[in-house]
Amino acid sequence: TGNVTLDVGFVNTASCKSAITYIDGGAGILRYRGYPIEQLAEKSTFIEVSYLLIYGELPTPEELDAFTERIRRHTMLHEDLKDLLAAFPRDAHPMSVLSAAVSALGTFYQDSLSITDRDQIELSTVRLLAKLPTIAAYAHKKSQGQPTLYPDNKLSLVENFLRMTFGFPSEDYDIDPVVSKALDQLFILHADHEQNCSTSTVRLVGSGHANLFGSISAGIHALSGPLHGGANAAVLEMLDSIDSEFGGDVDKFVEKVKNKETGVKLMGFGHRVYKNYDPRAAIVKKSADEILKKMGVNDPQLEMAMRLEEIALKDDYFVSRKLYPNVDFYTGLIYKAMGFPTEMFTVLFAIGRLPGWIAQWREMMEDPATKIGRPRQIYVGEGARDY
Ligand code: CMC
Repeated sequence: TGNVTLDVGFVNTASCKSAITYIDGGAGILRYRGYPIEQLAEKSTFIEVSYLLIYGELPTPEELDAFTERIRRHTMLHEDLKDLLAAFPRDAHPMSVLSAAVSALGTFYQDSLSITDRDQIELSTVRLLAKLPTIAAYAHKKSQGQPTLYPDNKLSLVENFLRMTFGFPSEDYDIDPVVSKALDQLFILHADHEQNCSTSTVRLVGSGHANLFGSISAGIHALSGPLHGGANAAVLEMLDSIDSEFGGDVDKFVEKVKNKETGVKLMGFGHRVYKNYDPRAAIVKKSADEILKKMGVNDPQLEMAMRLEEIALKDDYFVSRKLYPNVDFYTGLIYKAMGFPTEMFTVLFAIGRLPGWIAQWREMMEDPATKIGRPRQIYVGEGARDY
């Protein structure tokens, strides 16, 4: 096999050059296109950050208006796609529905499947950004057995998503500005994270010259696992289990995690790249506290999470392994307070991550150095033998 080096999990192997996102995991730094995540979270909007990630620069006000308007015109789903969604079982996991629907976009929009025609790539980009929140809201409505709503394009992307998720056709839906601002900020925090599992999946699938819809559909599945985006739901399940199995005794739970034979992990803790506090988690922790207060929600699970963090950050097991809370540790508590059921948490992550996936796919397709992704292996099986 020649000069093949084994690197299980690609711990030390860079698969590409990228100008999109910078992470310094030791220092806890995250920047999109050079802009610190803290500044973007405070001052920007999800649409503007999407533009920044995909096109490389912040938009002028005119560019932002044009981009917003373009997305607005594509928020509706093809009626036949709705029939497809209606055929899924009611208890289908919304991440499976999301991925299947995105894959199906490739059948409805065959006019934007090219991987080389810039106009078509633009069109698929806009279609995805516009339709994913609508699909996500439909998946939620379906799981509840409730009627779906058409997008109301007078609203912003996030407001529209909230209305389609929580509203009813016969009633006005009052959008809580605290909730829409907080959700917009959470989407910004999730918008890109360089070569994580789902983004690498999107790139790998695309490197074989698969279209954008198919590549993103694969990325959605990669995100769904509990070690990746599924961790935000797993954290809530863990907090529930600390109540039900450990009578709320956080110390006892931590002891179980430290006994590695149990195979139990502290979900929402640890990260391949951050060996310091995840800067996104720092922002989310602060806003979880503020938002829950503003919404008048008094969630004992927030206190439990804070206690869990405090204990873990002092404990040698976690300290010696440089395990800190990651972005998923506190987000679920905010999503729960907003009224989302646990199965929807990772769907929210997917809506947030979409512009990053698109930006990375486009960067790869435009890079003349790109080759098909094709890792090698170290063969450890039988030698030649006769049948
Ligand atoms: N709880 C307990 N022990 C842990 C944890 C944890 N959450 N994470 C890592 N460790 C231990 C691990 O057992 C290992 O111990 P030892 O050196 O004794 O064998 C050591 O810490 C290093 O861990 P690793 O498994 O080599 O680290 P990794 O880089 O392969 O995995 C991770 C990173 C995020 C998959 C892992 O930390 C994990 O499973 N965390 C829980 C799931 C989670 O919160 N995922 C969300 C990640 S951030 C957002 C996202 O990507 O979606």
